Amino acid sequence: MDKLLIHGGHSLKGEVPISGAKNAALPILCAAILVPGTLELDNVPNLQDVGTTLRLLERMGVKSDRDGSKVALDASQITHLEAAYDLVKTMRASILVLGPLLARFGEARVSLPGGCAIGQRPVDQHIKGLQALGARIEIEHGYVVARAKRLRGARIVTDMVTVTGTENLMMAATLADGETIIENAAREPEVVDLAAALTALGARIRGAGTDRIVIEGVQALHSGAYRVMPDRIETGTFLCAVAAAGGSLRLTGCDTAALDATLDKLRETGLVIESGTDWLQATMSGRPRSVDIRTAPYPGFATDMQAQIMAVNCVAQGTAVITETIFENRFMHVQEMVRLGADISIQGNTAVVRGAPGLSGAIVMATDLRASAGLVIAGLVAEGDTLVDRIYHLDRGYDRMERKLAAAGAQIERVRTVVDA
Ligand code: EPU
Repeated sequence: MDKLLIHGGHSLKGEVPISGAKNAALPILCAAILVPGTLELDNVPNLQDVGTTLRLLERMGVKSDRDGSKVALDASQITHLEAAYDLVKTMRASILVLGPLLARFGEARVSLPGGCAIGQRPVDQHIKGLQALGARIEIEHGYVVARAKRLRGARIVTDMVTVTGTENLMMAATLADGETIIENAAREPEVVDLAAALTALGARIRGAGTDRIVIEGVQALHSGAYRVMPDRIETGTFLCAVAAAGGSLRLTGCDTAALDATLDKLRETGLVIESGTDWLQATMSGRPRSVDIRTAPYPGFATDMQAQIMAVNCVAQGTAVITETIFENRFMHVQEMVRLGADISIQGNTAVVRGAPGLSGAIVMATDLRASAGLVIAGLVAEGDTLVDRIYHLDRGYDRMERKLAAAGAQIERVRTVVDA
């Protein structure tokens, strides 16, 4: 298992290119299933989760060809309508094949994802929505088995805002008979990006980016091409890194419009941010100031940025109250940050972070993707060496993070563990 070794205490300086968005790329790759032809994608990030999605699609019979950030998919010959447990258990986003398979082939068998480090994360809303579209759904041997001759449009009101739930239902509805309305839809920029990709393939969708998405079903989608949006969470993560470690970073190829809540909070810490349409320049001198955070669905502060802003608060002046409202168990990084000398106490879904003038390096364990990013940021500030273990979590969702940080002046290296044959 690889680890990251960080020698902390160095400020950041330089330019970091931002990659395509994981949480837009994954549903868009799954959207290829809807197309009896080809989908050519650009700006696909180089991540484990993208590799897992391509393997999932290949097992179904989707042909794929990857060349750097370009991925060409051909789903004209799908032979297996299944997502098996061994892949689904490593990536919950695999549930995103359910809607597309069912809509195009009238049948799908997708393993239930099971437990997760950050919360229960059930998929009941995906199932309820597909049932509203006319699917017959049963749970058999740990699999969701869905059948429908042809889905028919319906009005769906989800019980809570769900990102992949909205995406699954939106994809399914593109090929349904008649009009589908999704009320209480997620407004995340990644939902808007998926809608734009589907539109490029011939789908008829309006309202993406609002809480009411209307989809007019069509007979079939057609071949097309699409460029995945930049990753707003990766962008926010590098901004937190400079807010905590100090220095000046220029981030290129980013989408500044999708980052409102994060930029507002980081400005409150004292980070000076200048921006153009696709770049940001962030400069921090001295210690950051504490900022209170309450995570919320978009356009609120993203839960995917909570661990990283907590790392900033660990070394800030003042006390911050961080409330996590999306996932019930997303404070697993707290005890690891405490090992680095942070002063954090948790009461239910609230963490109180008393900023310390410094942290001290230690061995810490990553528990999920964003927790890993938070620990890396804390390691950049900590005096001495920090070893972040289990970084396979980080590799799932960040495109060569340590190389980007090293190019910006961080002392960080990957320690490879050689497994004896
Ligand atoms: N929920 C249900 N039932 C459902 C669906 C969701 O109870 O059927 C609950 C969840 O348990 C959670 C809340 O609703 O408490 C919101 O979950 P949501 O469905 O929005 O999460 P998701 O779609 O599974 C996506 C991202 C996550 C991100 C969340 C919230 C992808 C592939 N994943 O997950 O990203 O945290 O939205 O914004 O888009 C990450 O990138 O690190 C990550 C975890």
